[in-house]
Amino acid sequence: MLTQRGDRFWTYEEPLRFLGVDIGRIMSVMRLSSGGLFIQSPAELTPELNSALDDLGEVRFVAPASKLHGHLHMEQYRAAYPDAELLAAPGLPARRPDLRFDHLLGDTPDPQWGTDVDQVAIVGHRWLTEIAYFHRPSRTVILGDVGFHIGDSSPLKTRLVARALRVYERIGPPVELRLTIQNEASFRRSIRDVLAWEFDRVVPGHGEIVDTGGKQAVLEGYEWLFQ
Ligand SMILES: [Fe+2]
Repeated sequence: MLTQRGDRFWTYEEPLRFLGVDIGRIMSVMRLSSGGLFIQSPAELTPELNSALDDLGEVRFVAPASKLHGHLHMEQYRAAYPDAELLAAPGLPARRPDLRFDHLLGDTPDPQWGTDVDQVAIVGHRWLTEIAYFHRPSRTVILGDVGFHIGDSSPLKTRLVARALRVYERIGPPVELRLTIQNEASFRRSIRDVLAWEFDRVVPGHGEIVDTGGKQAVLEGYEWLFQ
């Protein structure tokens, strides 16, 4: 059920309906040098997923992309793995007062995962600060809503909406998110920090994974930002 895509890197896709459109979401699982697992965008913890994760290692960290929906199901992970640490994106602790978070994520990775996983806070948007991740061993960048990438495997309605939002077969934020960037210089700097990583694969917040040529795809999707 988990798909291995690279060195110590797995993904798992689950459905997500957002504003009436099926956009799906993607959980990433990284095995750290310490042997523990770092999970981003946790999926519903079914017994099958629980046992698939147990086969890979001990769940140590559970992280979101942003306050929007990366935290879904986190309470299930807290219950199933009481020693795992929950990581918060900016704005998330206020949104989920029921959860106790162990770290607030910013630009600097904690040494507990920093050897394997780097991170950048994507700043400059009016109300959304996302965390982008880079898994070094598999050369994978993991994005949130700044990295939609809807393709032809999506249902017709999703494809039509994606076209209107300018995220059909291109990596980037939906146009309304793009138009509500408050500080474009800061946003540009954040995306430059992402592009500085040596990656080949991109896991988008929603849509299709780019297994190779990911850096070029991000450059092309973000042409508008660097003109
Ligand atoms: Fe999202």
